[in-house]
Amino acid sequence: MGMSNERSEKKSRKAMAVGDRAILPEGARTIPIYIMGKKYEVPETLTIMKAMEYAGFQFMRGCGCRGGICGACSTVYRKPGDYKLQVGLACQTVVEPDMYLTQMPFFPANRAQYRLEELEGKPEVIFKLYPEVFRCVACNACTKACPMDVKVLDYVSAVKQGNIAKAAQISFDCIQCGLCASRCVGELPQYHFAQLARRMYGKLIAPKSQHLEKRVKEIESGKYGEMLKKLTQMDQSELEKLYVEREREPDTSSPGEWMPKETEYL
Ligand code: SF4
Ligand code: SF4
Ligand code: FES
Repeated sequence: MGMSNERSEKKSRKAMAVGDRAILPEGARTIPIYIMGKKYEVPETLTIMKAMEYAGFQFMRGCGCRGGICGACSTVYRKPGDYKLQVGLACQTVVEPDMYLTQMPFFPANRAQYRLEELEGKPEVIFKLYPEVFRCVACNACTKACPMDVKVLDYVSAVKQGNIAKAAQISFDCIQCGLCASRCVGELPQYHFAQLARRMYGKLIAPKSQHLEKRVKEIESGKYGEMLKKLTQMDQSELEKLYVEREREPDTSSPGEWMPKETEYL
């Protein structure tokens, strides 16, 4: 290919806007999106959150971890020609042409007041604090709305069946974004009572970890005091050397098989 052909092909190829660049690279392709009803042209590769910042919005609320963990950036959107409302996390979902979107950083679902240490680990406690659990009609809209793929209806059903351990386990990945509650015909605050189930399971139902108790006693007896003192007195290069040369469990060893040579602090 001749030099001039190469150059003209390069020119006609449109640059992609990548990452969180606020300044559009020359020739970058943009797409129209609608933020709260107003049209903006944004680089096509950005997440909704970065596209909104590109469009001039500043996140004072509705933005936390930017990593799909905190649940602060719930977004509801619809694409043209599709009746279906879509949901997603603004920090994870990439923009699409002509999407109509709005932020939902908070959903005012009912949240019961309680003191965990005063509760008993019984399902009746959840039923009393959240009687609306029984308004569920098993429509499954909540599961479809969950950006974390949590099986919301399944944990709601587990709570109704009085199985706190199962509800705690199924809801483990919930990030409290509130999208399930926003779609619920029964007005259930699913994520709030699932959090209560996890708290009750952790504090009142799961067997106590004996090795944790043993380790706490060892710490309190000063077993690690000298070692910690030494570590805090090291400079950065000494710490780095120690870290690099540390004994590591091989990636391929089966659980419980590997033991370090140095067992003094086990
Ligand atoms: S959206 Fe509400 S009513 Fe429907 S299954 Fe989920 S909790 Fe039940
Ligand atoms: S269960 Fe509800 S609150 Fe939790 S992540 Fe899913 S949609 Fe969000
Ligand atoms: S900012 Fe935390 S989940 Fe999106």
